[in-house]
Formats: sequence, C-alpha cells, structure tokens
Amino acid sequence: MKDRVALVTGASSGIGLSVARGIVALGGRVALVARTRSTLEEVARKLGPDRAAAFPCDVSDLERLERLPGEVKARFGRLDVLVNNAGVNHRGDMARHSPGTLAEVITTNLTAPIVLTRAALDLMERGGAVIHVASIAGMVPVPGEATYSASKAGLRAFARASAPELAERGIHSGVVSPGPVDTGFFGDAADVPPLVFSQPMSTADEVADAVLRCIQERVLEIAVPASSGRLATAAYVFPRLADALRPGLEKKGKRAKQAYLLRRREGG
Ligand SMILES: NC(=O)c1ccc[n+]([C@@H]2O[C@H](COP(=O)([O-])OP(=O)(O)OC[C@H]3O[C@@H](n4cnc5c(N)ncnc54)[C@H](OP(=O)(O)O)[C@@H]3O)[C@@H](O)[C@H]2O)c1
Repeated sequence: MKDRVALVTGASSGIGLSVARGIVALGGRVALVARTRSTLEEVARKLGPDRAAAFPCDVSDLERLERLPGEVKARFGRLDVLVNNAGVNHRGDMARHSPGTLAEVITTNLTAPIVLTRAALDLMERGGAVIHVASIAGMVPVPGEATYSASKAGLRAFARASAPELAERGIHSGVVSPGPVDTGFFGDAADVPPLVFSQPMSTADEVADAVLRCIQERVLEIAVPASSGRLATAAYVFPRLADALRPGLEKKGKRAKQAYLLRRREGG
C-alpha cells in the first residue's frame, strides 16, 4: 500500500475507520467518505493531512458519486483502491417501512457501490483493487432483514460477476462478508433478529484485516469469521438444512443477544 491511494466509503466509524487506519499504517493515503463532515474531518486530522482527506458525501447521491473519483485523483494524484463499505439497514417487516426507506437500503448498499465502481474504473491504476463490504446476510437470507439481505446478496454477486471485467484492467475485485460486528451499525440492538447473534461477534479490526488481505493478496472473497461463512453456504445450498437448524440457532442467538444487551447497558 506504500503511497497508494484508497477511497473508502463509510470511513468515519466502525469497519471503514479501521480500514482507513490500516491503509495509513501500511504507508498508504486515504480519501475518507461519509455524510457527517465534522466526524470525517476529525478522522482526517488524526490520520494526518498528508495521509488523509475528508470528502463529505452521501453515497445515495449518485450524481455526486460520478464526480468523486475525479476529485480524489485531483487531490492525491492517483487512485489505486476503492473500498465500498458504507451501508444502511432498516430492520423488521417490509410492511413497516415506506417505499422510500426500502429503496434507500438498495440505493446505498447496492446501486451506490456499482455506480462508484464504474465511475472509478477509468481513473484507477493497474494493480489496484475494488473491495466491497457485503454481509453473511448476503450469503444466506436472514428473515426480518429481507431488503438488507437482498442488497448484500446483490453486492456479492456484483463483486464476483464484475471480477473478469476489472481483471482486464489489472484491477482486482474482492468482497468481504462479515457476520455480526460490534460497531454502531446495530443501532438499537433490540431490533436485531436473534439469528444474527447466533454467530460469533467480530471486531471492526478483524473485518478490516480481511479487507486488507483482499487488497494485498488479491483474494476474491473472505467471510468473517470463516466458520459463519461455511455455515451460511451450507444453509443456502440446502434450504431444508437451514429450516432444521434455525430453531436451535435462534435459541442460541436469543441468549447471546441478551448477554450483548446487558454488556451494552453496563457500558462493557
Ligand atoms: N456491524 C455489523 O454487524 C455488520 C455486519 C455485516 C456487514 N456490515 C456492513 O459493514 C459496513 C460498515 O458497517 P459498520 O458496522 O462499520 O457501521 P458503522 O460503524 O455504523 O459505520 C457506517 C459508516 O458509513 C457511513 N455512512 C452511512 N450511510 C452513508 C451514506 N448514505 N453515505 C455515506 N456514508 C454513509 C457512516 O457515516 P455517516 O453516518 O456520517 O454518513 C459511517 O462512517 C456496512 O456496509 C454494513 O452493512 C456490518
């Protein structure tokens, strides 16, 4: 990554922040994207003005996304890596949500990464990489998160289907699919389906390590943790197995969720 330039969306907190820190630790420079200017500028200041710059942007603003890679190249002189990480989830039955809210999930999680990848391609250096942060919910559908699951399954499909096209330009395509990660993304964790908590909780740094591995070792796909990826693949291929396993996993997830909520209440 030495002196390479990465554009990271959702870079002001959680996984994106860990990825940005990791890239700078490896000698790279990073263009930080998120909606909230103040947090983004604070992160840029901490990483160092010669290493990082804030590009406040809502990734659902597709016209703005078209211009973003050019702005990054103008600032840093080159563009090597794109990490499509910003995402949103509105949980619960779809009937609870307005059409606009459901569409926001698809626009932010799926349309934006596609549009940004397209906008970046012509400006990226050979040897670069486009990495998408999807989810285990994109490997096996999660009831109660139908639109989110659909967006992440679509993102995973895009990462894999676009790989040959990117390879012709010397650019690697990769996707990281995490299970639950202890970040602010849960929001009110009471809403999160117990099934999600049945899987081991990862840290943002563990997911960021997988993103960096995808970039450096040109790995196509990493699930975090690998055990959840294997279980999700088996459950996707054998839906009856998924149905048989679900009650046990939900029971385990309920216990893990209660313990997590308690830890959060106690500030742990
Ligand atoms: N945490 C998990 O359990 C988990 C599990 C699997 C996959 N993931 C995926 O991992 C990715 C990162 O999640 P995280 O856990 O790191 O969440 P997080 O800590 O809540 O961080 C989300 C980041 O994205 C930015 N963001 C959100 N909406 C945006 C938008 N429309 N335009 C630009 N930036 C936006 C946020 O900043 P602003 O609010 O200032 O814009 C923030 O920097 C997401 O794609 C998520 O789906 C998370």
